[in-house]
Amino acid sequence: MPSFIIKTVNLSKTYNSGSVKTKAVSGVSFKVAEGEFLAIMGPSGSGKSTLMQILGFLDYPTEGQYLFEGKAAKSFSPDELAEIRNEKIGFIFQTFNLLPRATVFENVELPLLYDRRNLGKKGNKQKIEKALEEVGMIYRINHFSNQLSGGERQRVAIARALVNNPKVIFADEPTGNLDSQSGIQVMKILQDLNNEGKTIILVTHEGYTAQHAKRILQMIDGKIVGDEQIRERRIADGEKELK
Ligand SMILES: Nc1ncnc2c1ncn2[C@@H]1O[C@H](COP(=O)(O)OP(=O)(O)OP(=O)(O)O)[C@@H](O)[C@H]1O
Ligand SMILES: [Mg+2]
Repeated sequence: MPSFIIKTVNLSKTYNSGSVKTKAVSGVSFKVAEGEFLAIMGPSGSGKSTLMQILGFLDYPTEGQYLFEGKAAKSFSPDELAEIRNEKIGFIFQTFNLLPRATVFENVELPLLYDRRNLGKKGNKQKIEKALEEVGMIYRINHFSNQLSGGERQRVAIARALVNNPKVIFADEPTGNLDSQSGIQVMKILQDLNNEGKTIILVTHEGYTAQHAKRILQMIDGKIVGDEQIRERRIADGEKELK
């Protein structure tokens, strides 16, 4: 029996802005087992980011249930939520969201600073270096993030998401602002992390990018309209894929 890290039952999210109601996610039920690599696809406005933000505890559903590691998300205390956000999940965004005037080291250090228990700990430097090594960015450790290329920024953002060794990585259009070579590097890192056992949930509207996952969920108008395993997925191995 696989252990499901994520389970939703009839999950919905309605945005209320004044008199306008938008049902961004509409009765979504699915499960994700540990170690899966799931891509969520769908046209603009189909609810991909809204769903991802709920799954990553950056937003909350208005109806239905979300269970994380078998426990109802509603039952988590604010402290438990903070701990899950900081230690069990990592987030990667299309626009990187790094602090421009902080160094690469300082950007990756941030999640460690949010956790009081880490303050002044000797192991922090090693954790930061290990995360930067995983993404091939150790050689820029003292650069300011605004001195990096887009692909390099995204790799630093991945290191930041990794520094606490989370179980799940959520990536919302991580290759959307990158050239194809840098995009492939990012997909290679995500595939390597998945091979090491991390669960990856990726939002993309590029079919090519989605084919690097093991399973694709299709969304339209807030609903899941397709859910299939990929039989022959693409392996991001650099040169070969560029052709
Ligand atoms: N904060 C908000 N308030 C009101 N409506 C919102 C809000 N955020 C998203 N929506 C609406 O919810 C729907 C789903 O938006 P969402 O951002 O989840 O789509 P998406 O699939 O990620 O699209 P894209 O591919 O363009 O990023 C859209 O119709 C959007 O306009
Ligand atoms: Mg989106």
